[in-house]
Amino acid sequence: MSKVYLIGAGPGAADLLTLRAARILAEEAEVVLADDLVSAAVLAHVRPGARILRVGKRGGRPSTPQSFICRLMVRYARHGKVVVRLKGGDSFVFGRGGEEVAALAAAGVDTEVVPGLTAGIAVPAAVGIPVTHRGHCHGVTLVTGHGSEHGGEPDWAALARTGTTLVIYMGLGRLLNIAARLIAAGMDPTTPAAAIAAGTTAGQRHVVACLAELPARVAASDLAAPALIVVGEVAAFARPESLQWAEAEMRAA
Ligand SMILES: C[S@@+](CC[C@H](N)C(=O)[O-])C[C@H]1O[C@@H](n2cnc3c(N)ncnc32)[C@H](O)[C@@H]1O
Repeated sequence: MSKVYLIGAGPGAADLLTLRAARILAEEAEVVLADDLVSAAVLAHVRPGARILRVGKRGGRPSTPQSFICRLMVRYARHGKVVVRLKGGDSFVFGRGGEEVAALAAAGVDTEVVPGLTAGIAVPAAVGIPVTHRGHCHGVTLVTGHGSEHGGEPDWAALARTGTTLVIYMGLGRLLNIAARLIAAGMDPTTPAAAIAAGTTAGQRHVVACLAELPARVAASDLAAPALIVVGEVAAFARPESLQWAEAEMRAA
């Protein structure tokens, strides 16, 4: 029976895939439309014989248009296939899952969403940062670091006053500007902050500094996208950077 599953593949490590996701990939998938962020280790779960199409949408590189991806899903479903739309993290957190569900519903295609572990929670955890911690913050705000075509830029001045941990997706390239805006809005420049790249994978790297110094520390490092920025007292819980080489060797072993 034709169907489209929107599956969140988790932050990178293949064993952070949910059991439900692994079962559908191994037993049901006939066509898999996978994002760039989905690792080869995750794709290794896909049933032999299934067709895997890379439909990457990574920032700064040529992207597959969203409308084309939606059309492909509908076309394969109408041909009676079980289609998996596989994305990094969770489809409904900066994953355009809402748009895809709407497009599939409009086309009358049966759809099921399988949640994944979003990078915004799992990646800080991978370096020891709890995104909430009693006595340190009132909550956590997940926010994009780059503007959208609809909503413009996030209101950094308002975000600076929330008293919540800020977890900033897609913010590495604009880090200097973001830090300046938060500080200009009254956030303490000594607020702990961290940048974490390729979290939960063998290439995981992180840098910890105060907010004012984080952009320079990141610029002097080899951190590259995909990366998350964490701003708030909880960032001080990050494991020391000096331990990460040993940790990377253990992950790769
Ligand atoms: C288009 S968003 C997709 C988010 C995804 N849907 C999720 O729930 O995690 C891509 C951004 O997520 C963040 N990201 C995803 N995986 C990551 C990882 N393993 N390490 C660090 N950041 C990651 C980065 O900020 C990256 O630019």
